[in-house]
Amino acid sequence: MALWGGRFEENVSEATQEFGASLPVDKALYRQDIAGSIAHAAMLAHQGIISEEDARAIERGLRGIEADIDAGRFAFDINDEDIHMAIEAELTRRTGEAGARLHTGRSRNDQVATDTRLAAKALARDLMEANLGLRRALVQAAREAGDTVLPGMTHLQHAQPVLFSHHLLAYAWMLARDFARLAAAFDAADASPLGAAALAGTSYPLDRQMTAERLGFSRVIENSLDAVSDRDFLLDLEYACSVQAVHLSRLSEEIVLWSSQEFGFITLSDAFSTGSSIMPQKKNPDFAELIRGKTGRVVGDLVQLLVTVKGLPLAYNKDLQEDKEGALDAAHTLLACLGVMKGMVSTWTVNADRMRAVMARGHLAATDVADYLAKRGMPFREAHAVVGHLVLEAERRGVDIAELPLEVFQQASDLFDADIVGALDLDAVVAARTTRGGTAPSAVVEQMQLVEAGIEADSAAVEELSPVVAMGEGAA
Ligand code: ARG
Repeated sequence: MALWGGRFEENVSEATQEFGASLPVDKALYRQDIAGSIAHAAMLAHQGIISEEDARAIERGLRGIEADIDAGRFAFDINDEDIHMAIEAELTRRTGEAGARLHTGRSRNDQVATDTRLAAKALARDLMEANLGLRRALVQAAREAGDTVLPGMTHLQHAQPVLFSHHLLAYAWMLARDFARLAAAFDAADASPLGAAALAGTSYPLDRQMTAERLGFSRVIENSLDAVSDRDFLLDLEYACSVQAVHLSRLSEEIVLWSSQEFGFITLSDAFSTGSSIMPQKKNPDFAELIRGKTGRVVGDLVQLLVTVKGLPLAYNKDLQEDKEGALDAAHTLLACLGVMKGMVSTWTVNADRMRAVMARGHLAATDVADYLAKRGMPFREAHAVVGHLVLEAERRGVDIAELPLEVFQQASDLFDADIVGALDLDAVVAARTTRGGTAPSAVVEQMQLVEAGIEADSAAVEELSPVVAMGEGAA
């Protein structure tokens, strides 16, 4: 019979037991569960609800169980529906009555919310650190790129030249916002549900503040129904994971393109490439593709939880048991993606000459030719049309606009002087874009300082986070 079996005369079938169990998923939370129980027992003793002796026996028993699970020598039994029951049942086997008193003033609904919040905090923190690791790698790659120029694109068509460092820093900014989303998810999880006692609070004189503090929570949840029903903290985490995964997916797509024969902008290191079982020449960007692919999983996890929660009445419903698998999957998947992306970015070779070569035929200076005319008094719209005709002429001749002879420019407008040639130089085109946030080397140096200051501030913020209960590896 299960721990709740008193009012039952019959057991559920084995298949139904397995269907209803969450142990295969929530055993990953054993550290969080044990920390929650130790805090609860200590508080019960402090409040005179159980004896100090029982609390000590409970703590000793739980630490022993933790050591056994850590060491991989704990035999989980599917007849224990979830990690809460598995640990409580074993504790009671080991400590007798003391263990049987642990569940005073507490429900598994409180436990699962507590464990999941503690896990969400630990995972958010790990993700914040991994996010910082990738941002540092991007800044390093941007530094190493120096004044390398690549064709900036819109619609995947050559548009205007930009510094490769500028392009990489755009991703560093996305990741900075992703960090803020993770920090918000950490904060959302950082509140203690313990003391909800299933849904309504309890007549025992529990000290909720005390258990919250012992577990490293910054605050307690102020409504007992909300405490056991809320899963928005997981939605926040999964949303933060999803947006970040989408950012990594976009970078992955660029890596796939850049490493193709057609682009040739970068060469991935062998350590981040794979071969083909049939075509000996192949060097495939599998890991970038896989990050792009795994993004679908992460987004799917978010959607699954949104749909799971949408029709639920208060308070706890068993549907909520479907919350953890996707959340753990989203966080672990993104963690792995961040690590692989960092490796790829840190080890690729940038082919600056190739970037330069493909820019010979894209009319990338066309906007600057129009600007040249506009700065000499021609209305920009008119200038746009004049340069459009010059591009057409260049296309007819099979050359880039920069290769047209001066006479052709001067036939198109008498505002053109010999200095137009200098204005067509792509390094000059880049260097002229000195607006704040622009691609001129001087502006990018300033931008890089801001990115680095953000990384420093966020690293300090990680150190300031409330304590976490790290995930255990023993139940894998
Ligand atoms: N295994 C459950 C879950 O993951 C724990 C809470 C169960 N509570 C209950 N009354 N059945 O959500």
